[in-house]
Amino acid sequence: MSIASFPEGFVWGVSTSAFQIEGATSADGRGPAIWDAFSADRAEACDHYHRYPEDVQLMKDLGMAAYRFSVSWARVFPEGAGKANPAGLDFYDRLLDELLAAGITPYATLYHWDLPQALEDAGGWPSRDTARHFADYAAAVCERLGDRVDTWFTLNEPWVAAFLGYGSGIHAPGRKSAAEAFKSAHHMLLAHGLGAQALRSAGAAKVGAVLNISPVMTPAQVSDFGRELSEEDAEAVARIDALVNRQFLDPMLRGEYPADLLPIIERSAGLNHIQEGDLETIAQPIDLLGINYYTPSVVQAQPSEPADPAFPGSEGILFCTIPTAVTAMGWPIVPNCLSLLLRRISREYPDIELMITENGADFVDVVTGDGIHDMERISFIEEHLRALRSAIADGARVRGYLVWTLLDNLEWADGYQRKFGLVHVDFGTQRRRMKDSALWYRDVIRRNGLVE
Ligand code: NOJ
Repeated sequence: MSIASFPEGFVWGVSTSAFQIEGATSADGRGPAIWDAFSADRAEACDHYHRYPEDVQLMKDLGMAAYRFSVSWARVFPEGAGKANPAGLDFYDRLLDELLAAGITPYATLYHWDLPQALEDAGGWPSRDTARHFADYAAAVCERLGDRVDTWFTLNEPWVAAFLGYGSGIHAPGRKSAAEAFKSAHHMLLAHGLGAQALRSAGAAKVGAVLNISPVMTPAQVSDFGRELSEEDAEAVARIDALVNRQFLDPMLRGEYPADLLPIIERSAGLNHIQEGDLETIAQPIDLLGINYYTPSVVQAQPSEPADPAFPGSEGILFCTIPTAVTAMGWPIVPNCLSLLLRRISREYPDIELMITENGADFVDVVTGDGIHDMERISFIEEHLRALRSAIADGARVRGYLVWTLLDNLEWADGYQRKFGLVHVDFGTQRRRMKDSALWYRDVIRRNGLVE
């Protein structure tokens, strides 16, 4: 059997997030968070708060080297700021001990969308104070857990949190304002910078952030990326790329907003919220950039098109459907886009080390007497791993790959119907069952590669 190997020491694992799996939303003094009331489904999720030993055991059985989880801000600071709640930190203390005893390296994310409700009531992310509170929270968590966590990610997917939370209102807190979305994005960037400084002062070994990077292209480019574009289409592609990708990459890694984005921000939100010195703070040196990749953004110029509320400034741009295979969410499956984006990031931001911090898919799983034969999920991951390997062969500095996700869980506004897990969860009984994809992934990890 010949193996298409990954580099020695390549890090394999899975990612999760606090709100999506923990449940126990009022246990041990946790305060309310913006998703508690917003989520249509009850938030017991996977009851991971109580079942974490079983979940760590599952990861151990699957041979995971790494586990990326997120800390719930409202467990640590029930009011968002002020008095810390030691019992909330105790949970992560227990979790970390369990992980380390199982030989699994923890990667901690500090903000995966679950803002304490008290901070939303005080203005939320459109308010600059939230960034300062984030830095205090980051310091408190790192002071307590930093002896067992090497790598800290400040924020997860700030584009989604800012633009779906405050722009389109599809996500919590459900506000619908272009100005608030851009201000939120800036304050999240600032939170990242202040948080990175706070983490370093508290002794963090490695600091990074996690961005959702989505290659932007026209329908014709999906099968032929080199295809020449009309001037209008090229402008549409560049505009969406500025909004979703460069809005975060450039401030963090270059200390500047993209020149083509500033007029769009100014039209929607003015520029007063971007203060002197902010960009230097945001551009703290980081050790690792986490990339979450699921699907490309496919767009073309169409003069009569109104702006998409999630992309203020996208007037005249149509978001297209394309005739490719899709996941159950309807997301086009285009594995080559993963290599495309990794080559691009490695070329345009050459100094940064990368990790795929999320990649995976929801499909409709059928539970049979002899297991869950989720062949589509296996093919999805396998094809993306082949694309990843080819980018690494071309020099992309990718140190690891984490599947989204360990367990079927609470998929935000979509509730429990979406199944991204390698492990099936029966939400009536909380029974966990490994899907075929989990066992397949275990073999990939064992071999450090794919069967050719
Ligand atoms: C990215 C988010 O970080 C995660 O929370 C979510 O469940 C997945 N995308 C799938 O939508």
